[in-house]
Amino acid sequence: MCGIVGYIGKREAYPVIIKGLRRLEYRGYDSAGVAVIGKGEGLNVYKCKGKVADLEKHTQGKDITGTVGIGHTRWATHGEPNDINAHPHYSQTKDIVLIHNGIIENYAAIKENLIKRGHTFESQTDTEVLVHLIEEVKQRDGLKLGHAVLAALKQVVGAYAIAVIDKNKPDEMIAAKKGSPLVIGVGDDEYFVASDASPIVEYTKNVVYLEDEQVAIIKRHEQLKIRNLKDKEITPSVQEIEMELEAIEKGGYEHFMLKEIYEQPRSIKDSMRGRLRTDLGVVQLGGIVDYEAKFLKAKRIIFIACGTSWHAGLVGEYLFEEYARIPVEVEYASEFRYRNPVIYEDDIVIAISQSGETADTLAAIELAKSKGATIIGVCNVVGSSIARATHAGSYTHAGPEIGVASTKAFTAQVTVLTLMALHIAYKKGTIPENRYRQLLFELEAIPQKVERVLTLNNTIKKIADIYKDATNFLYLGRGYSFPVALEGALKLKEISYIHAEGYPAAEMKHGPIALIDEEMPVVVIATKGANYEKVVSNIQEVKARKGKIIAVVTEGDKEVTKMADFVMEIPDTDESMVPLLSVIPLQLLSYHIAVMRGCNVDQPRNLAKSVTVE
Ligand code: G6P
Repeated sequence: MCGIVGYIGKREAYPVIIKGLRRLEYRGYDSAGVAVIGKGEGLNVYKCKGKVADLEKHTQGKDITGTVGIGHTRWATHGEPNDINAHPHYSQTKDIVLIHNGIIENYAAIKENLIKRGHTFESQTDTEVLVHLIEEVKQRDGLKLGHAVLAALKQVVGAYAIAVIDKNKPDEMIAAKKGSPLVIGVGDDEYFVASDASPIVEYTKNVVYLEDEQVAIIKRHEQLKIRNLKDKEITPSVQEIEMELEAIEKGGYEHFMLKEIYEQPRSIKDSMRGRLRTDLGVVQLGGIVDYEAKFLKAKRIIFIACGTSWHAGLVGEYLFEEYARIPVEVEYASEFRYRNPVIYEDDIVIAISQSGETADTLAAIELAKSKGATIIGVCNVVGSSIARATHAGSYTHAGPEIGVASTKAFTAQVTVLTLMALHIAYKKGTIPENRYRQLLFELEAIPQKVERVLTLNNTIKKIADIYKDATNFLYLGRGYSFPVALEGALKLKEISYIHAEGYPAAEMKHGPIALIDEEMPVVVIATKGANYEKVVSNIQEVKARKGKIIAVVTEGDKEVTKMADFVMEIPDTDESMVPLLSVIPLQLLSYHIAVMRGCNVDQPRNLAKSVTVE
């Protein structure tokens, strides 16, 4: 969480930083701040509680000139969101300023020591301690800024992506990382530093992904230098990124979330591109080809993920068990990592993550790896920490997802898991050839069916208007639709702040049924399939208690349509692919309800897109 941006070069730094911060706001928006070193007054620091737009207002009419600077958008961990806790933070002399994404776990001990040495602190943050430590080491050992950062970081336990500038060194910026992401853009006589590539792509496509425990010494008119914490020089590896600018802009939509919902026909297609070969009757997953033998021998698959990605893992469980006949467990990464799980060398661990930066997922991977399991990644962000930490994997290729509530990343994850499960099943011989081929064609038809689901938008808007003031929602589904019920409820909670629960429809009678009265909207995924009649009975149980039924049904449905207050019809498909269609009306429902309630859809309160703290 938290977004950081830095610039050094020939342009004015402030506009580059502000634009970059706006792009990184999905990472946190509790406060924002900027520091620029100008010619006249030297170092100017501005920061305030609130969003980047508040920071812009705050800096109006002030001196923001300078060609080197750093900026930050915060998701608060240590210390409440206020002006003082906002980054950048000053050193004791106020000469050095620093921005930070991550957590310094041993900050209390360092702070105590520094206080003994005469340091005074303004904020409650762990970050302020780090910049004081850097200055202390610099002065004590007579070090240059880069080496002082390096020496200070050796004392630090925790995670960080930082950028540091010194008022007395306007031609230099230091950046470092461990655990949190940091990308350096290498332009023409200019450098950019950011939490991801989105603030950089507009200026250059050449980037260096800093590795953990590396420090970049970035000097004006000089080559980029990187050293590790052992003070060994590392040759920077410059890579070209593919991200296009239009992918990170709203493109005429009111919100990123809506744009991303509408992108799904394309993003699902992109996640199948070159992999689903109906012409050859095969699935080609180049990223895992060397690990196929491990899959075929695996006694168990363990999915680890958080949030929406965990829901995709649940769909994966149904897919792999049904088709590949491999037992599956689906684990919250945050629980898995701390409970001494039993992991065998012939286990396959599939880590699912949109951002590829989720701290708990990353830690769970390291644990599983240390026990000898094979780790496969299903990530969206190319080159992300999780993608690099896994043995192999398949990217989802959904394109940048900016809205905090995940939409297109979910359908892309489910698509990739479907491809994987079918492929492994075919190789294992656990699926008849004709069924396999039929499913490949079914999957190929999904993007076009998603297009049809999106035409429900106006109907869904009307339903949203009727239920927008409800205080609770229940989401029910069975089989493949159970994870979709969970995901539908999560979407509503995240962006509209309405309490919602997702439940297996049959389990409702063991608790949630007590909540049902005439005020309670119950969203039921009641599409055609093996459990259809059972779900019909569950709907009757809700109706008997006067609950309101909003049902997702298969086109042409009669039975549920008669009983439901409202229906959203989706095209017919194979039961195992229904999640790719049924989740979309639920995304739209939560979107419209949130908009009608005046909520900030793309930046819901307290949340962040990339959770790099545990
Ligand atoms: C945060 C985001 C969710 C996301 C979850 C896991 O909570 O707001 O949208 O599902 O993290 O993130 P990941 O990047 O690992 O998929």
